[in-house]
Amino acid sequence: MPKFISGKMSNEVTRDELESFEKDNIKRYSNEEITVYWRPGLCIHSANCLTGSPLVFNMNRRPWISLKGATTEELIKTIDTCPSRALVYRKIREEPIPPSENKPPSSGNATIRILKDGPALISGDFLLQNSEKQPIETKSGTIALCRCGSSAKKPFCDGSHVRIGFKD
Ligand code: SF4
Ligand code: FES
Repeated sequence: MPKFISGKMSNEVTRDELESFEKDNIKRYSNEEITVYWRPGLCIHSANCLTGSPLVFNMNRRPWISLKGATTEELIKTIDTCPSRALVYRKIREEPIPPSENKPPSSGNATIRILKDGPALISGDFLLQNSEKQPIETKSGTIALCRCGSSAKKPFCDGSHVRIGFKD
């Protein structure tokens, strides 16, 4: 579920995400203050990261993320603009990660957000089914569903809306 702090979306990692990252061996980049997690399968190619912090996020460099290019405050500001939560972060604090038994009860809510010229983002507690009512596996609490019809991995968005210049 996306978090909102003072009315602003926050891409700080959730406990559920953190647990799944440990299992799925998600890519991560750390400095002394922050760890940034990157899920390429969720990227919808909005380029917010590239334009927000070009010294940190650079597709022409390997690795493409270098935390040296910005302060932690700037990094957080940019990552909070990633619409699909392909990028999330965890501030490195002294307290340990809370145990999963302490998870807050599920709200049972889902949010659907239509992105301009892009996919529909769904976050929260939802069940995705195909036309036969069979469940479709989702690995994350946030998914992007294709609206342009050009994705090679439908029903999910693969960023093709940018290539075809989808407008809606
Ligand atoms: S979806 Fe997120 S990671 Fe992908 S380009 Fe946009 S801001 Fe960057
Ligand atoms: S909306 Fe992203 S590939 Fe179709």
